[in-house]
Amino acid sequence: RIAYVNGSYVPHDEAYVHIEDRGYQFSDGVYEVAAIKNGKLIDGARHLDRLWRSMEELQIAAPMARAPMEVVLKEVVRQNRILEGIVYIQVTRGVARRDHAFPSFTRPALVMTAKRLSYDAVYKKAQSGIKVTSVPDIRWDRCDIKSISLLPNVLAKQTAREAGSVEAVMFDKDGMITEGSSTNVWMVTKDGTLVTRSTKDNILPGITRQCVMELAEENQMKVEERAFSLLEVADAAEIFITSTTSCAMPVIQFDDTVIGDGKPGPVALRLINAYMDFMN
Ligand code: PDD
Repeated sequence: RIAYVNGSYVPHDEAYVHIEDRGYQFSDGVYEVAAIKNGKLIDGARHLDRLWRSMEELQIAAPMARAPMEVVLKEVVRQNRILEGIVYIQVTRGVARRDHAFPSFTRPALVMTAKRLSYDAVYKKAQSGIKVTSVPDIRWDRCDIKSISLLPNVLAKQTAREAGSVEAVMFDKDGMITEGSSTNVWMVTKDGTLVTRSTKDNILPGITRQCVMELAEENQMKVEERAFSLLEVADAAEIFITSTTSCAMPVIQFDDTVIGDGKPGPVALRLINAYMDFMN
């Protein structure tokens, strides 16, 4: 495997960053994960838009212009000979003597890696669905930024794993669902309306969420962007989660509650089919 690190393509096992990188010391950085299908980046423009927005919100200078970054991305995919998988992009504020405030002179650090992921396997998994576990959302007020500061997400996912679940679904102080530890969460009501929390409401604006919303509308499905509660979930016809790595993944069990008839629902299955078509 080959990684891109600050201007060089290096063997993955020999790729290092400095011990005083602010990403390492302060989680002072942002990232993106984008899918590769048939050797091509999926929704690359939207991922780069979001990366730029994350950098701007934290006043991290872009490590390079957008066009050369697209070239490097393609090169990382090519050098790793990946037809199906994901690319990881990370930008940190750079290396500086430890001090919480922004350093005045530092170059942002850029790392890119790629790895294989079978979307056939994701699709197969969707045919049986997954279990999720709810956990309190203990994050900050800027979840719209795709920051590498992921400790609450890490703890949430670990709690879910220990409960035998694939994903943690987080809820706020009012018992309203925010999002998954690395996914957006959707509900299908008994009258067939798709509901997902608004991106104005302190969640990550998922690229898959946006794409699935467009596919739903193209398929004449009704979508409502609003918060929904843990209580509503118990009464939902379907629940599913969306992300770059899980596409549109049906949830068949939410804590101890079996969703629908305990099998992936027709709406989620239709959407994952539409999403697979979109990727091809
Ligand atoms: N996670 N919400 C959170 C908190 C996320 O970290 C992610 C993505 C999403 C879904 O966004 P998208 O559809 O753009 O992938 C929602 C990535 C995949 C990760 O951290 O690995």
